[in-house]
Amino acid sequence: MTIPIPTGVFDIVPKPHHGDEWRSSHLWSFVDSMARRLAELYACQEIRTPIFERTELFSRSVGDDTDIVSKEMYTFEDRGGRSLSLRPEGTAGVIRALITERMLHSSGPTRLFYLGPMFRYERPQAGRVRQHHQFGVEVFGVAGPEQDAELVEMLVTFYKMLGITDLTVHLNSLGTGSARHVFVEAFKEFLRPQLGALSEDSRKRFEKNPLRILDSKAPEDQAILENAPSILDFLGAEDKAHFEIVQSILSNQGVSFEVNPHLVRGLDYYQKTVFEITSGKLGAQNTVGGGGRYDSLVKELGGPDMPGIGFATGLERVIHTLLKSRTAAEIPKNPLHIALLPMSEKEVRYAMNVASRLREVGLSCFIDFSFKKLKNTLSRVVDMQAQYVIVIGETEIQTNRLEVKRLLTGEKKIVALEALSSFLQQAVNIQNESI
Ligand code: HAM
Repeated sequence: MTIPIPTGVFDIVPKPHHGDEWRSSHLWSFVDSMARRLAELYACQEIRTPIFERTELFSRSVGDDTDIVSKEMYTFEDRGGRSLSLRPEGTAGVIRALITERMLHSSGPTRLFYLGPMFRYERPQAGRVRQHHQFGVEVFGVAGPEQDAELVEMLVTFYKMLGITDLTVHLNSLGTGSARHVFVEAFKEFLRPQLGALSEDSRKRFEKNPLRILDSKAPEDQAILENAPSILDFLGAEDKAHFEIVQSILSNQGVSFEVNPHLVRGLDYYQKTVFEITSGKLGAQNTVGGGGRYDSLVKELGGPDMPGIGFATGLERVIHTLLKSRTAAEIPKNPLHIALLPMSEKEVRYAMNVASRLREVGLSCFIDFSFKKLKNTLSRVVDMQAQYVIVIGETEIQTNRLEVKRLLTGEKKIVALEALSSFLQQAVNIQNESI
């Protein structure tokens, strides 16, 4: 009996089933490499943290009353009786690591990025999986609004580099401390007489996490929320000025955005600027990425009093969006430069020797060990999209001269073994340039 894959998780493979192109591994490599390139352009360094942490790290940061912590975490006891959880997001683990490593005492900002899986026990549906992958960036030590604007711009640039269009940037400010408290009270006063008309989820949130009601998508809530007070009217002078500078820098950088006073995000650690980017090309789960400022979190987790801000984008959704404007075949793949086809076991040693020479100069090389009829192996290397093919038989070994065939055009050329590496290196470069 075969063992099925668990619900809500997926394999990323070279050739997924038809219609499931988003699981093609070359798309994931492409997106990963773009993320790394972007991080380099914005002077961020990589951090890798464990995929599980002590449960209290998430309850204290993301918040006990959030859906993520109260309903969606994969929590288990290890054999030593400790409560651990698979990470549902990356920010808390990054801060825990920086505190453990005493990295937050150095002068100058700390700018980090991460790529990796996150786990949330959600009802699987389009755009929602139980293991998703995030590219995230966190910056510590800069309190000013310039940093907020740079990070929003960075996330937008990521999507631009991937060729993703039809995106909307939503911006809001949640203010800090007392202003937020006053707003929450005013918001509850506004809702109280209409409590009965709210959705069941929102009624549950009314006492524990009323802010989340603001971004409810339930139609019965939306009608009520239209007339709700705006959190932006409650901001203190400093927070208001901060938010205005974020907006003016973004405009100056040519990043369009919408101010959305209903945007609150699903994690409790935010204050001041929050943002989300949605795609007009996805269905209900249309948020591709989001983030915000969390100036009190480092201290709350036992570190120094240090501001922080970051974002994360879900790579499943990035790839789904990408595939709305480009096909999987249009996304560049690592090329296979050469396929070597020894005709029998007798030519294997020679072929492996040739392959070593080619790989040494950076050419990718596949050796066919099946020794099947040439017709069969040729169709296989066409399928692998090899650029050049070399068949190796007795004559080739005797003469040390090899016939190099370019698959795309059928052109052939006899090349001496000594000259082969440099000939192919040049040919591959020329070919890549002409593509
Ligand atoms: P988040 O909005 O919870 O933020 O998640 C970030 C992104 O991960 C979402 O915009 C979405 O694209 C993707 N995502 C989340 N859950 C799922 C899921 N079940 N299936 C597929 N994709 C999903 C955070 O996690 C924050 N840590 C972001 C941040 C970093 N804020 C400051 N720094």
